[in-house]
Amino acid sequence: MLDKNQLEKYNQEHLYEYEKLMSNNEKDALENKVDELDLEGIQKLYHDLYVNRKSIDDVSSVSEVKYEVKSQLSDEDKHTYEQKGYEAIRNGEFAVLLMAGGQGTRLGYKGPKGSFEIEGVSLFELQARQLINLKNQTGHTINWYIMTSDINHNETIEYFKKHQYFDYDPEHVHFFKQANIVALGEDGKLVLNRDGHIMETPNGNGGVFKSLKEAGYLDKMEKDHVKYIFLNNIDNVLVKVLDPLFAGYTVSNNKDVTSKTIQPKHGESVGRLVNIDSKDTVLEYSELDPEVANDFDNANIGIHALKLAYIKSAVDRELPYHLAIKKLKQLDEDFGVVELPTLKFELFYFDIFKYGTSFVTLQVPREEEFSPLKNKVGKDSVETATEDLKRMSLI
Ligand code: UD1
Repeated sequence: MLDKNQLEKYNQEHLYEYEKLMSNNEKDALENKVDELDLEGIQKLYHDLYVNRKSIDDVSSVSEVKYEVKSQLSDEDKHTYEQKGYEAIRNGEFAVLLMAGGQGTRLGYKGPKGSFEIEGVSLFELQARQLINLKNQTGHTINWYIMTSDINHNETIEYFKKHQYFDYDPEHVHFFKQANIVALGEDGKLVLNRDGHIMETPNGNGGVFKSLKEAGYLDKMEKDHVKYIFLNNIDNVLVKVLDPLFAGYTVSNNKDVTSKTIQPKHGESVGRLVNIDSKDTVLEYSELDPEVANDFDNANIGIHALKLAYIKSAVDRELPYHLAIKKLKQLDEDFGVVELPTLKFELFYFDIFKYGTSFVTLQVPREEEFSPLKNKVGKDSVETATEDLKRMSLI
């Protein structure tokens, strides 16, 4: 039996009542899970992020990042960066890291977002093609690290197998799973998912570095003499995966964090790259007053190159959780299925930037490098992604 007193102490006594309705197997599973959980830490998270939540109002210490604009570089500089980039790629200085553990709920598509096909070409394939091109151009096969989560890990691997890894070398494709964290009701109570287990959700893309380490891949990168990790999202159909100019820009500047940005549109739902206390970081759109957001010139498009030595030194340091409230299906006290606002806790990958010491940013043209697939229709949708892919002759 669960310990009623212990549960009461942490506002989770409802689990004791739920347990009475469960089969023996379900009881065992629930008890094992509760044993694993840090109930005190969970209550603290609930109080810090929900009960006492505060928005980022004071932006007086926030300033614009220093950045260069790609279109203002001379042809000679562009050429030099590109050549340096090819050379660094040829020498194996880069690994590519794709974050693909997200749910893609807004797109209303059940499978892994990367398996979404536009005119028969999936988002995974669009990115694999570019790595194949780089291999053909440099003779070097880049290691491709792909972060999945419990919700899409097996399906992602199946999809790659079904498509013969899009002709990329399977030995150079490495999948690893991000971790989960419990979700809570608005009253701070743990909730049961439809299978009667304590509900957990992926812990946000900020789990990426720790999971990479735990899978042994930070050590592998070091052994492979990798110097920089190129990072990108799954849903930008125009992403230039490790484009040589950006690779050369990274190597030439040799900073802990090299970011690629675009000029945001007024009111656009994108994070803003800013400088706080001499560190570049991202203020997320969901946490930022839209009027304040409009003051900044660099939109985060999830594209960065991170120095491996810096990531290794920062990976075990603490990152803050952020709160998202989503309607999720769960069991009520009579074990009927209901859909209720649920607190999800997420880490953001860019919070690790505060442990870096040097930063540089290149702003690139949106029309060439950013078209995210987020929604079914309208803005950033299948329609806009298809148009952009055609315009750039990518499909
Ligand atoms: C993200 C950025 C935002 C940026 C925008 C550009 C974050 C926190 N925010 O917002 O600053 O302006 O992209 O398109 O990154 N993912 C995981 N595991 C998770 C959650 C997400 O791997 O638990 C992956 C997704 O698969 C995706 C990427 O992280 O590749 C970004 O996540 P998404 O939920 O799409 O973030 P946005 O809200 O679009």
